[in-house]
Amino acid sequence: NFEVIRDKAAMRHWTRSMKKDGDRVALVPTMGYLHEGHLSLVREAKARANRVVVSIYVNPGQFAPGEDLSVYPRDLENDLAKLEPMGVDAVFNPYDLYVRDQSDQDSGLIASDSNGSGHETWVRVERLEKPLCGVNRPMFFRGVATVVTKLFHIVEPDVAIFGKKDYQQFRVLCRMVRDLDFDIEMVGAPLLREQDGLAMSSRNVRLSAEERQKALSISLSLRAAEESVRKGERDASVLIQQVQKTITEAGGHIDYVEIAEQESLRPVITLNCPVVLAVAVRFGNVRLLDNVEI
Ligand code: PAJ
Repeated sequence: NFEVIRDKAAMRHWTRSMKKDGDRVALVPTMGYLHEGHLSLVREAKARANRVVVSIYVNPGQFAPGEDLSVYPRDLENDLAKLEPMGVDAVFNPYDLYVRDQSDQDSGLIASDSNGSGHETWVRVERLEKPLCGVNRPMFFRGVATVVTKLFHIVEPDVAIFGKKDYQQFRVLCRMVRDLDFDIEMVGAPLLREQDGLAMSSRNVRLSAEERQKALSISLSLRAAEESVRKGERDASVLIQQVQKTITEAGGHIDYVEIAEQESLRPVITLNCPVVLAVAVRFGNVRLLDNVEI
C-alpha cells in the first residue's frame, strides 16, 4: 500500500507534504533486485522514521563501459511485491533522473564526461574514492556520490540508510554528507549473509552453482582472519596473506584484500585500532565484495 512515484517533482512534493504534517522521512537507496539485505535496511529505516521511501534506480553513472550495466538483474514487479508487506510508504522509481540529450537516449547510456551529455557535474570525494574499489573502478564512487546527491536533493530525507556490505561506499557518502553540509543523518546497517555465509548481493544470481560454492571461501577466509586476530595476530600482512591464499586456492581472482582504518580507510600495518578487512574477488565474471569490522 505504497505509492510508486516516477518523477522528480512528484517525489519532492510527496516528501514536503509529509514533512508539513511533522513526519520524519527515511530514504533507502537501492538499484533493485531486492534481497533480505535490502529489506533489513527498510526495517532499520522504519525504526528511525515514520515515513519510509525506497528508491529503485539502476544508475548508469556508476558503471564503466564494459561493466555489467546491461546484465545487471532487474525485476521491478517482484521488488514491489517484496516491499508490499514491509510497511513502506513510497517507492521512488525515477525515469528522469538524468537530463539526457538524444544521443544519450540512443545509446542508452549517459556519457561519462561533458561531451555530448546533458550532464556535466559530478561529486567527488577525492581521497576516499581512491583506495580499495577505486583502484579498479576509478569512476565508480563519482557515479555513486553524484546519484546519491541527486536522490538527497529530490527526496529530501531526514535520515538515509546504507549497508556496510558496501563499506567504502558508506564511508565515501558519510564524508560527502559532512563535507557538503547535507542535513541528513547517515546510518550504516550491518552486512547480511546467506545461511552458508555468502554476503547477500543482487549479483549472486549470476554465479554458477560451482562458482557459488567456491565463493564461500571468501566468508570462510574472513572468519578465519577474525579468529587469528582473536588469538593475538596483529600483523596485517600476515592476515592478508592468509585470506589471499584461501581465496586463490578456491579459484577466485583477487581485486584486493586490504586492512584499513574504519573511517579514513587508510591502510593499517599493525592492528591497534578498529579496522575493516575488506575484499573484492571475481569468480567467473561476477565481482563480489565482502568485509568484516575487527
Ligand atoms: P545496491 O547494490 O542495490 O544496494 C542498496 C543498499 O543495500 C546499499 O546501501 C547496500 O550496501 C545495501 N546492501 C546490499 N547488500 C547488502 C547486504 N548483504 N547486507 C546489508 N546491506 C546490503 O549500493 C547501491 O545499490 C548503489 O550504489 C546505490 C547506493 C543505490 C547508488 O546507486
